[in-house]
Amino acid sequence: MWRKRRLFRVAMLSTFAVVVIYYTTSQLRTIQKWRNRRKVGSAPRWEPVVLMNELQYVGTERDEDAFVRHAFNLSSSNLLPSDRALPDTRHTRCHDPSNYGELPLETTSVIVAFHNEARSALLRTVISVLNRTPSDLVEEVILLDDCSDNEEDGALLSSLPKVRVIRNQAREGLVRSRILGALEARGDFLMFLDSHCEVNVGWLEPLLERVTQNPQTVASPVIDVIDMDTFQYRPTSSQLKGGFDWSLHFKWVPLSHKQREQQTNPAEPFLSPAVAGGLFLVSRNWFRMLGMFDSGLHIWGGESLEISLKSWLCGGKVEVVPCSRVGHVFRRRHPYTFPRGNANTYLRNSKRVAEVWLGDHKRFFYEAQPNARMMDAGSLQEQHEVKSQLDCKPFQWYLENIFPELKLPNEENSAFGQLRQGSLCLQSVEESSAIKLAECSESEPSQHSWAFSVHTASIQHRKLCLTVHDRAKCPVLETCTQSYQQKWSRHGRAVVLLSSGQCLESGTTSEVRLSECRRGAVSQQWDFTVELQAQDDHPVNIT
Ligand SMILES: *[C@@H]1O[C@H](CO)[C@@H](O)[C@H](O)[C@H]1NC(C)=O
Repeated sequence: MWRKRRLFRVAMLSTFAVVVIYYTTSQLRTIQKWRNRRKVGSAPRWEPVVLMNELQYVGTERDEDAFVRHAFNLSSSNLLPSDRALPDTRHTRCHDPSNYGELPLETTSVIVAFHNEARSALLRTVISVLNRTPSDLVEEVILLDDCSDNEEDGALLSSLPKVRVIRNQAREGLVRSRILGALEARGDFLMFLDSHCEVNVGWLEPLLERVTQNPQTVASPVIDVIDMDTFQYRPTSSQLKGGFDWSLHFKWVPLSHKQREQQTNPAEPFLSPAVAGGLFLVSRNWFRMLGMFDSGLHIWGGESLEISLKSWLCGGKVEVVPCSRVGHVFRRRHPYTFPRGNANTYLRNSKRVAEVWLGDHKRFFYEAQPNARMMDAGSLQEQHEVKSQLDCKPFQWYLENIFPELKLPNEENSAFGQLRQGSLCLQSVEESSAIKLAECSESEPSQHSWAFSVHTASIQHRKLCLTVHDRAKCPVLETCTQSYQQKWSRHGRAVVLLSSGQCLESGTTSEVRLSECRRGAVSQQWDFTVELQAQDDHPVNIT
């Protein structure tokens, strides 16, 4: 009897033991799994990094003309520790890490190109990345020293964890330096940062989520302001997208009514026509497929517009991610030295972007930047190859679908630019109301800015209207009055004065006069450079 009971007890005990062991190991396994999982918003895996000889590193720089050299308050920057605390500027919805889902196992290379950056600003950029990014997400921080005067600015930081310093022995400019960084990168994602930034808490995870969901995304953080005088960190609106005008100058644009309606909360990522500046995350593969940045861009400028247009037109997209916040020192001027002058370099870079990506709409760029017409922008063959290889869409698609806010200039006009007949152009005669024909020239301002408006039935040259006085044969330019003497229409390529039904005709010399319309007469055929309402009903048909 007692033997039976003992046997029973042993059986019970061993069953219990088995259950306990099984339960414990399974719990341990779960815990292990949890540990291995990329937990979003978790504390950094190492103690916050502080450079041991930080004061020594920063303190060696004493420059009386610091404001001139860096275009920001150097002493204000130097007084701040590299690991200073920042206000969390995110929307409260961003605080919940479960919003970002599972993070990728792939890593990110952070690429920071710099030239003569203030040491304290550069160091704070690096330290903020190391302290505010889960370690296993960061492959490396590539510091690309674009031939700074003092090699040690970068070299001294190579002892920091994950930091790789690469130095150009000759100046390449920021654009080519970033390309070099991208070529060196081992991570699957590339994050481009400026050298005077501070990333904020949880900055990388929401960007990674977007790029993981769609690998053809260029994802931009919201760029907060670090005051250049006081280095105070201030939030900016998270509801602005990046855009530009016809000069190809970047500008902020509020979200469209439709975008605001579609948005369920302000923490949601939204589509943006362009990224602001050089701060964005992109998959390395997609970046390479896009041909990286155009390596023909000199020094700085135009590259963020280029990558944005390329991305949109060639099958990808650009997004702003409000839950990702990065502070940036905005300066009044660019301290980066341009060997060929700041404005010229920028214009030349913009011309390259316009020539490759704007298609026929580049004419609007030249209307806004007439000085770019004569500029030599170098060979664009490689860029055109990328464009045809990836079978990129025309700019018109971008205008209609991605950036409808970019209005065509003088939209009430149906045609504008030069008013030409063959190789001859109509031009105003200085100090008089007369007009004449002359050989067309891109650089002759008196030949540009003609416009025909269907609404007012007028032909304008700048502020003046093409006028034919009663019984006179030659048109002149006069103040616009809306009188019948200034009403014109176009029939095919003929330009007709409505009141008399007569046609504008070129004479044997440089004169222009009115005469009876004759069908097919070459001397009565006129073309504007830009036709916005062509006969065949295409919305834009530029010849
Ligand atoms: C620069 O920073 C220093 C130290 O914070 C401050 O005393 C000074 O007023 C600042 N200069 C300007 C022009 O803001």
